[in-house]
Amino acid sequence: MKILAFGDIFGQKWRTLVARYAPELRRQYAPDLMIANTENLTQGKWPVPSHLEELEALGFQVFTGGNHTFAHMTELRPYIDRSDSPQIRALNYFEHPNYPVPGRGYRIVQTGKGRALVISLLGATFMGDDVDNAFIAIDRLLSRLELEGEKFEAIVVDYHRETTSEIALMTEYLRGRVSLIYGTHTHVQTNDERIIGGYTGTITDIGATGSLDSAIGATYGSFMPSALTGVRFFGSKMEPDLGPGVVCALYAEVVNGVCVAIEKIRIIEPVE
Ligand SMILES: [Fe+2]
Repeated sequence: MKILAFGDIFGQKWRTLVARYAPELRRQYAPDLMIANTENLTQGKWPVPSHLEELEALGFQVFTGGNHTFAHMTELRPYIDRSDSPQIRALNYFEHPNYPVPGRGYRIVQTGKGRALVISLLGATFMGDDVDNAFIAIDRLLSRLELEGEKFEAIVVDYHRETTSEIALMTEYLRGRVSLIYGTHTHVQTNDERIIGGYTGTITDIGATGSLDSAIGATYGSFMPSALTGVRFFGSKMEPDLGPGVVCALYAEVVNGVCVAIEKIRIIEPVE
């Protein structure tokens, strides 16, 4: 199974960038499964259904979550609550019978090359979200699906977290149990893609798709006042065009659960 995964797709710049480069990458890599992290899709802090549908039209089958997925619940809820929703959210929220968390933490997708299980996890360190332990949560899910006799051609994990240590430890924890685990959220692509134990493909962070010359997608001006004064009420602005864009993605090939190839992709939009 050939997999093409995008990290955080940010701000307003994504629309032209993804429309321009996703079809090219599709032709080049012929993916059976296309995944994108959409927690920054709309105004930097949430995905709206109409934007998700634009990505669906470009061939994306699964959208993973993050710390901003639920920023505007009202618009997203009907879309994320659908049993066949492409949009998932982090698996490791606490479960309470009186307050069910909308959506699901994983999705099973039938592709032309077999079934894929895609799981979304959220980190706990420096994130501000009071989430359940991601290690225990994924362990519980994988054990349950195994007990139920579920088989997958590929198991893919998006670990949306701030620190490099969390994904290093998670990768080691899941070594030989998942086909591919990658980080999202820092918006910076790391140079450490590899296959560990001859089985599990990994990269610390895929990197973001959005404006290159920016404060991780937003204008410098929107964060500089806070950096200089410590006051946080200035607010960030996702300008439609901050100069050239960057597209960051990850290609991986999985055969019978095992990652056999991994390649990071980073395209800087030429200045016209
Ligand atoms: Fe994030």
